[in-house]
Amino acid sequence: MIGIAPQQGLAVLGLSALLALAGLVACSGSDAPAPRSGGSKPAAKSAQISPEEATKRARNQYDTVCLTCHGAGGKGDGPGAAALDPKPRTFTDVEWQKSVTDESITKAIVYGGAAVGKSANMPAHPLLKDQPQVLVELVKIIRAFNGKG
Ligand code: HEC
Repeated sequence: MIGIAPQQGLAVLGLSALLALAGLVACSGSDAPAPRSGGSKPAAKSAQISPEEATKRARNQYDTVCLTCHGAGGKGDGPGAAALDPKPRTFTDVEWQKSVTDESITKAIVYGGAAVGKSANMPAHPLLKDQPQVLVELVKIIRAFNGKG
């Protein structure tokens, strides 16, 4: 009895080492799917995106949509601002930044200006409702303009 157990142990060890090796070879052999299968977040939870991806999408959203009215520097002077009355919010305004909560900013973005008692010229962005991580990053972009006037 005593003589068999270590042998079995050794056999199991040898087998698992072999399997590990096979796994390694298989991984390095298949290029594209390897990083995904090794990742901690399975692709099934597609709603969850990486922090880097959320930051990227928020920046892209600002640069392609918000910038049109609010301007690259957040001063409310984008190309679309000229025709608007009231003017798009100046994000660099320290007093405004102090007065407004992140929740209210988020609400204005998703449901539009009218939802927070402001001009309906501030459009709603309903698609962002399903992208909470992107919304958080968008709020950060708006907060970062604080005092940069
Ligand atoms: C068509 C022009 C336009 C676009 C595009 C636009 N906004 Fe606005 N936004 C406005 C205007 C106009 C106001 C000012 C409303 C007011 O003061 O009554 C405003 C106000 C705001 C406010 C301030 C709300 C408050 O409580 O004072 C936030 C925050 C905001 N916009 C964020 C965004 C973000 C983020 C985007 C892009 C996802 C965006 N806006 C896109 C025109 C625009």
